[in-house]
Amino acid sequence: MTKVKGRVAVVGLGPGDLDYMIPAVYKAIQGAEVVIGYKTYIDLIKPLLEGKQVINNGMRKEIERCQLAVEMAEEGKNVVLVSSGDPGIYGMAGALLEVKEEKNSEIDVEILPGITAVSGAAASLGAPLMHDFVVISLSDLLTEWEVIKKRLYHAAAGDFVVALYNPKSMGRTTQIQEAVEILLRHRNEETPVGIVKNAKRHGEKVVVTTLGKMLKEEIDMTTVVIIGNSNTYIKNGKIITPRGYSL
Ligand SMILES: C[S@@+](CC[C@H](N)C(=O)[O-])C[C@H]1O[C@@H](n2cnc3c(N)ncnc32)[C@H](O)[C@@H]1O
Repeated sequence: MTKVKGRVAVVGLGPGDLDYMIPAVYKAIQGAEVVIGYKTYIDLIKPLLEGKQVINNGMRKEIERCQLAVEMAEEGKNVVLVSSGDPGIYGMAGALLEVKEEKNSEIDVEILPGITAVSGAAASLGAPLMHDFVVISLSDLLTEWEVIKKRLYHAAAGDFVVALYNPKSMGRTTQIQEAVEILLRHRNEETPVGIVKNAKRHGEKVVVTTLGKMLKEEIDMTTVVIIGNSNTYIKNGKIITPRGYSL
């Protein structure tokens, strides 16, 4: 008898509000037999989970979730592994593929994108990402702080718009201060900054400020910070990075 080949779809939920989830993700969740994810994200899609086997666990259990997803797909099941935002941006897509390769598994894997935090936040701020930009995570859990500092320095020197993910947590408070110091070596204090907490989901809070003043604002793990380049300006409360058109 031929073995039934299962599959894992790694799906991005977007920022959290179901209106911002792409229809392909919605359909994949509806068609799944098993849905696996971090508890907070599973809670966001509760209305879609009736009749499905749901497996949720806590933070920092990413590899366990991927191993389980691959094992259940190997049993022939149709599995959905959920990730916040886009699964390929600090999400579950990479870990799932690494675990699949490590296990020499032949299951099918499909990765379905989602709106990532930086595009949700940018839309709420105006148009800050209209020119070249970089995204840097300030979390030094899996990346050395020296490497992160080097990337910040070169992004600032290259005059990129800089978006910061994982900017600050309860136990990690100094990195954002150091990041601002590094950026100020190449950018002036008046550089526009947008701080968006809970972008495009319940409880959204949008703050437009400057690089010199941003540390006075509330910043936490549900926040994205976008720092403009040397041409970015603020007009009527919106942040605009010119693309270069002559008007
Ligand atoms: C591990 S990363 C996950 C990113 C996610 N895969 C994405 O594409 O948006 C977690 C960080 O993303 C940012 N983030 C995710 N969703 C957000 C939202 N709706 N509003 C603001 N920041 C968000 C925060 O900086 C948070 O600390």
